[in-house]
Amino acid sequence: MCGIIGVTGTSDALTFLTQGLKALEYRGYDSAGVAFFDDSSIKSVKTVGRITALESKLKGLPTASCGIGHTRWATHGCPNEINCHPHSSFGGKFTLVHNGIIENCDALRAMLVRSGVTPTSDTDSEIVAHLLELHYDGDPLSTLENVTHMLEGSYALAVICADFEGEIFATKRRSPLLIGREGNEVFLASDVTAMPMGGDVRLLADGHTARLSADGFEVFERGKRVEAEKVSGELTEMTATLCGYPRFMLKEIFEQPEAIARTVTPVCGKSTPKLGRKGVLLVGCGSSYHAALACKPLIESVTGMGAEVTLASEFICSHPTPAEGRTCVLISQSGETADTIAAADEALKRGYKRLAITNVATSTLARVCDEVFHAKAGPEIAVATTKGFTTQIASLAVLASERDSELRAEIAELPALAEKALKASEKVEELVHLFTNAKCAFFIGRKSDYGVALEGALKLKEITYIPSIGLAAGELKHGSISLVESGSPVVVVCANGKLIAKTLLSVATVKARGGVTIAVTCFEEVAAACDYAVLLPPLPSLLSPAVTVIPLQLLAYHVAVALNRDVDKPRNLAKSVTVE
Ligand code: M6R
Repeated sequence: MCGIIGVTGTSDALTFLTQGLKALEYRGYDSAGVAFFDDSSIKSVKTVGRITALESKLKGLPTASCGIGHTRWATHGCPNEINCHPHSSFGGKFTLVHNGIIENCDALRAMLVRSGVTPTSDTDSEIVAHLLELHYDGDPLSTLENVTHMLEGSYALAVICADFEGEIFATKRRSPLLIGREGNEVFLASDVTAMPMGGDVRLLADGHTARLSADGFEVFERGKRVEAEKVSGELTEMTATLCGYPRFMLKEIFEQPEAIARTVTPVCGKSTPKLGRKGVLLVGCGSSYHAALACKPLIESVTGMGAEVTLASEFICSHPTPAEGRTCVLISQSGETADTIAAADEALKRGYKRLAITNVATSTLARVCDEVFHAKAGPEIAVATTKGFTTQIASLAVLASERDSELRAEIAELPALAEKALKASEKVEELVHLFTNAKCAFFIGRKSDYGVALEGALKLKEITYIPSIGLAAGELKHGSISLVESGSPVVVVCANGKLIAKTLLSVATVKARGGVTIAVTCFEEVAAACDYAVLLPPLPSLLSPAVTVIPLQLLAYHVAVALNRDVDKPRNLAKSVTVE
């Protein structure tokens, strides 16, 4: 949610900033702005809407050598130019961009008002700018450090000060910020995808401050120079380009065989974290929660331990039952989801060992947990997760396979099966007409297929805006079937041979109400019983969620394209949800 970029020592800061903001746009896309030094004063340009609108506003302006930029996903106050970043202090001394949430902003705002400063925006970020000017001691770095002691919550801050032309000051807490240098350009960004490829890239640690100038960057811990952690070449070389695809979501769907292969290689090596022997608690939000649900049967059947699955946002307000030796597995593609990070804190209090599964090895979640399993999806830009989900399934499977060589052999087959599923899904485009005018769509499945049904419904609703319900197949008759009417599309997921008979019953029940059934299955009987079918190759049922979800992703994608939706940036959403 929201993206930060900054640069100094360059000949064309405005181009650098807008290019960086384009790479960060998936993080938030309701408004954007930049601030830069112009003839020794600070100038800000902001706009509601996308980066292209900002670019048009910047056209013709003289170039700058130092500036900061931001793309926003509104939390405090609606998307308008007043709430848009950068924010400046009352006397114009400081201008900043901020990611995160200042939790005590109401108290700080009241304090500012008592001191005679009235903020003009609804944002928590503007408060920080005023505090900096109010407490300015002549050194922006020590002022920044002192002001952060007054802040509760999470923040990544990039600040410029009118007295220090060409310099950027930065700090962070529980919100990522990277700094780097390549040639003459010294830069910072909240996401590795916005950093220039190569060069020296470092990760700013919580509580550290940094000063960037044309001469390079310096990092400090309580005023003392420290060496910031270097980000590996592998991470900085992660590019996020379309490579000929019309949209990131489609590209990422097709990257799945490769992403799964990266994640499972080597299948369970010496350094693979252990789930333990006393049971696991699987925690996540959205699709990550669905991945956990889809893998619960696998973990329970392979390890013989209980696997409880809970939503991160519910876990933090649930009765604090003790861990009793169990491992808490926290699943998050981005590793920056606030609910999941809060759940990690809560799990620590309850005595769990905490194991993160995340696609971003440098993320906050990876840093707060005791151990990390790296799901190697690579940069995921489309807001709707696809390879993020399937690599989470692959990760959970690897963790479960510790003592099961048969399962390890099956895991090694997953990339090839995902490839076959992509091929089998070609006919999904023929199904689009069943959905484009639907009042409501349904996705049903049992056991491992239940998590996939939930994920299929989420994919469809988040990018097409068609109301979609994912259900445990057995639950349909307990209420939701009242919504099924003539022509209602009902997607039936079945990859478990033992569940064919029950699935056929669900199909018959839906058809009797006029529903149109669409099978996603590896069984001829199920395919034949439904009105339409995507027939998949034979699948190991407990691992099947990494494969059966693929036609559902493509279905959502093609329906969204047919409805002319903004597939990669659906309304009201952002890639990582950094607010609770
Ligand atoms: O980065 P995370 O895996 O923690 O994100 C969790 C959810 O916000 C995410 O899966 C969301 O539901 C996706 N937009 C679904 O496509």
